Amino acid sequence: MPMLYNNNNRPLVFWSMLICSGLLAKMTIAKPAEARQKFNVERVSPALELGEGPHWDSSTRSLYFVDLHQGKINRYHPESNSYFSANIEGYKDVTLIVPIEDKADLFVVGLGPSIGIVQWDGRSNTTSQPEYVKLIDETPGNRLNDGKADATGRLWVGTMGSEIPDNPGHYYKRRGSLFSIESDGTVNKRLSNVSISNGMAWSSDNKEFYFVDTYKFAVEAYDFDIVTGDLTNGRVIFDLTANKVAGDPDGMTIDKNGNLWVACFNSNHILKIDPITGTLLTTVQFPAYQVTSAAFGGPKLDELYVTTAGYQLTEAQKAKRPYSGALFRVTNTGSTGFEGVSAKIHLCPENQLHTI
Ligand SMILES: *[C@@H]1O[C@H](CO)[C@@H](O)[C@H](O)[C@H]1NC(C)=O
Ligand SMILES: *[C@@H]1O[C@H](CO)[C@@H](O)[C@H](O)[C@H]1NC(C)=O
Repeated sequence: MPMLYNNNNRPLVFWSMLICSGLLAKMTIAKPAEARQKFNVERVSPALELGEGPHWDSSTRSLYFVDLHQGKINRYHPESNSYFSANIEGYKDVTLIVPIEDKADLFVVGLGPSIGIVQWDGRSNTTSQPEYVKLIDETPGNRLNDGKADATGRLWVGTMGSEIPDNPGHYYKRRGSLFSIESDGTVNKRLSNVSISNGMAWSSDNKEFYFVDTYKFAVEAYDFDIVTGDLTNGRVIFDLTANKVAGDPDGMTIDKNGNLWVACFNSNHILKIDPITGTLLTTVQFPAYQVTSAAFGGPKLDELYVTTAGYQLTEAQKAKRPYSGALFRVTNTGSTGFEGVSAKIHLCPENQLHTI
């Protein structure tokens, strides 16, 4: 864990200016150590505090992501190279954003321990007030973390314990869970005893579910039943500690060859892992201290969008890597991935959330 520093009051003027201007200059990273990589890494957004949860939406050809503790949802539109950010007023922890199928402008978002629905035109600097807010995790202090929809549109959200007082950046362990929100609107707890729920990817045949509990410093696989949503036979497929790989595994995505791209918090890299052989195939480096998640996107789904964070960095760290927190695009990965799956959600008049 890095030295930590409370920077909640840092000025956001530079960022706001960029939001207003919409258009951002591209910046190609060309450090000698990275020149050996075939990868091309570009920064495509201003540096946020804690970028997370990238989701490629093919209908708007946009990459949606959150600034987790700033109550913000964001959109990057590659064709116009423009970036938009909106505040969800009254909410601080906005942990995930997934579009709702067949409902233009509606999104399910993580709101602390709950999910809710917001309307956003993808351009304005505010959203509607959240509606259909539904508490998911009742453990006091817990909050949601990453969330994604599976191939059927069933939403999966994981949770984590609260930050330990006087120990910023460290969280109570084994208090979180992984939930799915089922087709009849009920919430099912799928895994318990989770410290920090992260990752989430499904094999293209939907027989495997890949998961990260960050404090296990490993990537796990479960046998997955797409009909029932049941997870069985959990096992480690890549252990970072045993492989002497630095960083805390965070969000991940899967490519069409079945390889996993795993972001590492408290580290500057993404790992490309073959889950069948359990081997590390390659790494991609970023000019950021904390790499949080990844999603393939772009018209050919061959661009890897990577969120990063500059959470609780020291002033010296921020000066050294000022783009910690930006969204990056990696090209020349030689891989293609899958578009994000929208959540199937039916909104009932009784102010209850039901999925269809
Ligand atoms: C948000 O947008 C409105 C309307 O365009 C503008 O008046 C307001 O100043 C903006 N607020 C911020 C914080 O940028
Ligand atoms: C919870 O996880 C820890 C660490 O992985 C393990 O030692 C413990 O037995 C687990 N407890 C339950 C109830 O599964």
